[in-house]
Amino acid sequence: MLNTDFFLRNLWYHALPSAELKPGQMLSRTYLGEPILLGRTRAGKVFALQDICPHRAVPLSCGWFDGEQVQCCYHGWKFNQGGRCTEIPSLMSEQEMDLSRFDVPSYPIRETQGNLWIYMRDRATATPQFDVPAIPGFAGKSPNLTYTVRFPCFIDHAVVGLMDPAHSPYVHRAWWWRTAALHDEIKQFEPVPYGFRMTRHQLENAGYLYNLIGGAPATEITFYLPSVRIEETTTSKYRVCNLTTVTPISEQATDVTFQFYWNMPWGWLLKPLLRPLVKAFLDQDRSVVVKQQIGLQHNPVLRLIKDSDTPARWYYQLKNEYARAMAEDRDFVSPVKPQVLRWRA
Ligand code: FES
Ligand SMILES: [Fe+2]
Repeated sequence: MLNTDFFLRNLWYHALPSAELKPGQMLSRTYLGEPILLGRTRAGKVFALQDICPHRAVPLSCGWFDGEQVQCCYHGWKFNQGGRCTEIPSLMSEQEMDLSRFDVPSYPIRETQGNLWIYMRDRATATPQFDVPAIPGFAGKSPNLTYTVRFPCFIDHAVVGLMDPAHSPYVHRAWWWRTAALHDEIKQFEPVPYGFRMTRHQLENAGYLYNLIGGAPATEITFYLPSVRIEETTTSKYRVCNLTTVTPISEQATDVTFQFYWNMPWGWLLKPLLRPLVKAFLDQDRSVVVKQQIGLQHNPVLRLIKDSDTPARWYYQLKNEYARAMAEDRDFVSPVKPQVLRWRA
């Protein structure tokens, strides 16, 4: 198997649902092992700074935020949203100093469709090659339901679990989901920029939850680097999109955020029903990953078989190709070719 034991850089990672960062608020977070201060000005603009004071390393998030500027709690240095040092209180008025020497690194951040995305670059000059993926049909809308779970694993295991078509009958056994009897699955896949897609198809073995939203569901599922899965389901009446994002916190911790966007006007009625189901579903994925960590401590060789592990193989290939293309400063060439995959699930 390819060596992909690294964090992929120069990409947008899901940071936070917008609703979790209020105007005038700052939060301390860790993404890809880096301490990051997320803030939202009183006017609503979001920003992200390295959460380390350039004076003597106290986390800036331990200080104060007045809705415009962040002030360190140790010696009161102030920084604006761009990380520019604007004030050193201990300086006498005649003591001139070039404050730009003390700027804090900032991170590009984008707010779209109710989520904050952060661009984790490996050098200040790296500019985004492609945009945050859009949730089709929900421009300007926010998710109707959000749930985040922390997986105690490296990002790859969470991503591979997410796109693995063969685990459902074993991991997701539940009375409210499909039956455990295996059947043949034959699906067409195609490349998309920085990812791949299971093309649009009718859902034959849809769970009866789908009957609630009009029946005759058709679905397509798209994966984008670094770790974004969008499942778009339309029925005779409605549209439901599931956005699942995977964000590495550290080498051993990964946040999986699962969100629904829907256009059923009565959709809010579903929420009390759906929330525990989503929680149960993700807890099943999490608990098998917890078990997987027991074996992984011994560095076993991991196998990827045809065809049910092909999406996982594509993920590793996409990841490696993206890292190499960035390192060699050349265009990304997708390793994915259109293909029919067959498996039993
Ligand atoms: S450590 Fe932040 S102002 Fe001194
Ligand atoms: Fe799963």
